[in-house]
Amino acid sequence: MKKLLPLMKKYLAYAILSPIFMILEVLGDIIVPYLMSKIVDIGIANQDIDYIIKVGLLMIGAALVAMILGVSSSFFGASAGYGFAAEVRQKVFEKIQGFSFANLDTFQVSSLITRLTNDCNTIGQVTMMSLRMAIRAPFMMIFALFMSFTINKSLARVFLISLPLLAIAIAAILSKARPLFFKLQSRVDRVNGVIQENLTNIRVVKSFNRQDFEEKKFKERNDGLMNVALKAISYIIFLMPIFNIIVYSTIIAVLWFGGKQIILGTMTGGELISFITYITQVLMSLIMISMYFMSLLRGSASVSRIVEVLDTESEIKEKINPITGIKDGTISFDNVSFIYPGSSECTLKNINFNIESGETLGIIGSTGSSKSTLVQLIPRLYDVKDGSVKVGGVDVKDYDIEFLRDKVAFVLQKNTLFSGTIRTNMKWGNEKATDEEIIEALKHAQAWEFVSAYDDGLDHIVEQSGDNYSGGQKQRLTIARALMKSPKVIILDDSTSAVDMTTDAKIQKAFKVDLPDVTTIIIAQRISSIQHADRIIVMHEGKIESMGSHYELMENSPIYMEIYESQQKGVIGE
Ligand SMILES: Nc1ncnc2c1ncn2[C@@H]1O[C@H](COP(=O)(O)OP(=O)(O)O)[C@@H](O)[C@H]1O
Ligand SMILES: [Mg+2]
Repeated sequence: MKKLLPLMKKYLAYAILSPIFMILEVLGDIIVPYLMSKIVDIGIANQDIDYIIKVGLLMIGAALVAMILGVSSSFFGASAGYGFAAEVRQKVFEKIQGFSFANLDTFQVSSLITRLTNDCNTIGQVTMMSLRMAIRAPFMMIFALFMSFTINKSLARVFLISLPLLAIAIAAILSKARPLFFKLQSRVDRVNGVIQENLTNIRVVKSFNRQDFEEKKFKERNDGLMNVALKAISYIIFLMPIFNIIVYSTIIAVLWFGGKQIILGTMTGGELISFITYITQVLMSLIMISMYFMSLLRGSASVSRIVEVLDTESEIKEKINPITGIKDGTISFDNVSFIYPGSSECTLKNINFNIESGETLGIIGSTGSSKSTLVQLIPRLYDVKDGSVKVGGVDVKDYDIEFLRDKVAFVLQKNTLFSGTIRTNMKWGNEKATDEEIIEALKHAQAWEFVSAYDDGLDHIVEQSGDNYSGGQKQRLTIARALMKSPKVIILDDSTSAVDMTTDAKIQKAFKVDLPDVTTIIIAQRISSIQHADRIIVMHEGKIESMGSHYELMENSPIYMEIYESQQKGVIGE
């Protein structure tokens, strides 16, 4: 909580005003029963109508003022609570934007969503309660206790029995409920996990007819959440009858002993009425305190989950004086090995190669041979374990990260577009781009032919994740978007897999002819996509099996020959 408190600064005034108004409201609530006892004992006993009206009006006035104070206090409390939650949410969101790929591997996306929504809301609500209930209840209790002792010391001794009883009951139940609240949050995570995976891939689920399976998976987790929630709630439900028994027994005891005192003449009827009101206030405050502790437990689970995100440092760090200039697009890997976080074995082992600026490098190899892993090291999406990766003769760790990623454009294997228009998506690569520049990039990526066919051209709509485009169209748009950065190096990770061969060839040619200074790395499944590359790397189980031109590899790389032959067969047919 100490870590989060500074975020309250903007709403500090509300956070201070709310409890102050609250305390004033409590004072009003305390005065009302006192005035009531005066009406009974003086006004009614003496049949003094004037007195009754006078004190009655005072009572109404006090109740009204208390009400206005209470409403203001609630308003300030809500403003502080929700404002604080919004600040926390903003901060967590910003933190996640700075996460490295490795951080994202550690935290699951669904868990991050739960933290941003559910946990932040809980923090807001608990803050609001802390400002109101947590202040109101103890003050109410102290004032009411004081008043009841002032009215009748001997009768107030009933508290000596009922208060400890109630406290023990509350403590016992809270200690039981505590672990459940931590469990509850992780169950919410699990439910959100299925929801997120299912909804982002709903089309795949449908095409595989896996709805039943998904429903079953969801039901299992949903039931899991319900069971824990029910268990946690049942403790609260259990508390209520215990509270009631203690409260009513206390009232009966007070009526019994108080009645005797009235008969003896040591207490008045009005005093007894206000005494009972005060007793109820004391016990109710205690109940409120216990409820507050209950939500505090829930809140503390949320706070620790939020702090966990805020405390995570991206292990991809910039040097103090990072370099923001680049000589050219040469790339060199020097004895590079790499391991995924949480993995036991190196995914890349002893990688060595150099490519000249403007060269085209093809990378081929079976799936899982670590092609994607290799190229992710160039824009420093992950850091190497050993060795070094250099771009333009400089270690990638010495660059300003933003600068590096602008100069090394990467079309990810699992790429996506964002809802908006084609123009807004292209401007992702370069905010200041003119239409001419956008059209040029689209032309290089062979996307202009279909974009220009739309009536609204660049303003054509893009739905969430680009679902209204075919796989091949989407790939061409993502390539164009990467070109908008005018990079020195461009990496296409299997980015033309859904594009037909003719268009694919046109893209290769455009890159060679129109962008001769841009170093191009193409990962592909099809030999035809890379055979014209200056050089080709064949990956096998995290190592470079061989490297050379198409003709060289056809001579001396068994894996390359095998891939070539299998694809020839595919073309010729059996
Ligand atoms: N984020 C990740 N965390 C852990 N292991 C991963 C991750 N991404 C890929 N791997 C593992 O690294 C290996 C190489 O994967 P990848 O580079 O994607 O292969 P390719 O692109 O050649 O198909 C695979 O065994 C895969 O399971
Ligand atoms: Mg891959």
